Amino acid sequence: MRKKIIMFWLVVLIFGLAGCSMQPEEKEPEIVRSESLEFDDDFLHIGLIQTGKESGWRDANSNDYQETFTKERGYDLIYIDGNSSPERQVKAMQDLIRQQVDYIIVQPIVEYGWDEAVEFAQEAGIPVIVADRQIAVDSDKYMAWTGSDFYEEGCKAIQWLEDYLEENDRQDEALNIVLLEGNEGATATTGRTGGLMKRIEKHGNWKIIASACANFTQGEAQTVMEQILNEVDPDQIDVVIAENDNMMFGAMKAMERKNVSFGPEGDIITISFDALREAFEKMVDGKLHASIECNPHLAASVEKIIKKLERGEKLKKKCYYIEEKVYDFKNASQYIKDRNY
Ligand code: AHR
Repeated sequence: MRKKIIMFWLVVLIFGLAGCSMQPEEKEPEIVRSESLEFDDDFLHIGLIQTGKESGWRDANSNDYQETFTKERGYDLIYIDGNSSPERQVKAMQDLIRQQVDYIIVQPIVEYGWDEAVEFAQEAGIPVIVADRQIAVDSDKYMAWTGSDFYEEGCKAIQWLEDYLEENDRQDEALNIVLLEGNEGATATTGRTGGLMKRIEKHGNWKIIASACANFTQGEAQTVMEQILNEVDPDQIDVVIAENDNMMFGAMKAMERKNVSFGPEGDIITISFDALREAFEKMVDGKLHASIECNPHLAASVEKIIKKLERGEKLKKKCYYIEEKVYDFKNASQYIKDRNY
């Protein structure tokens, strides 16, 4: 026991020193929790390190955690907003270790930079569960990961495009593609881009004529798309692929401002990811061709993992993939009523 306490304070001390290398302007992470910091209660204390508020998907994902890990269900959820800063996220893990929570759920902004923090959590005896994107850390250092198969999502997008072109007898046409990517270092970006490129490369007559990073946000995508439209003749663009719906909404604003016609009722083929309610509305309105679902409901899968660990069971798998579908302008009106995010 004494050894455990010494080890814990050693971890805290090392973390304190590691924290000195942080940028001076870094503010403390915003911690929203309902209880005092002393855990003299019967709740299971779960620290959730979220990426930020970059997209509609993210809001739905945060709500899902908040609706699942409630007091009524025996949990005290400590929600930490990473505010789109990887450094803040690592610092948040340090704070949660200090608080000696029972579990840490991390939804990383980027894959890198986690080795030390995850190792400290392991040494402090706090199980880490990774969700949504992944971390580039030895998998024996954390309990499990749950989330989307982002690479497969990228492949599905191109499968949809191939089917659509074939249905319209356009499979032999040369295609110029504009690609808007998410933030660098995120599994959602590398996976989707990887799947897209693997399938695009198979078409000798397809070309990416412009690609840019817009960090999964609507505002940045609008700016980036405006720049692209200043440099590329819109008549040369056949397809716009955005790695999430919000970036597509931003790109649409930019195209509208330049009177560029897009969507099933226009010229440019538009494909994005997430399948938000607003994307369904755009598909029904003839503005968006397809949205490849990214399921934000990860809390149930995380809870299952926690319950197994609480029962002392060994996890049979390291990776738990979530189910996802493909929606397009042809089937959107059938499913829109079920979409509440
Ligand atoms: O990691 C999931 C991705 O991150 C979603 O596609 C995107 O909308 C979010 O910001």
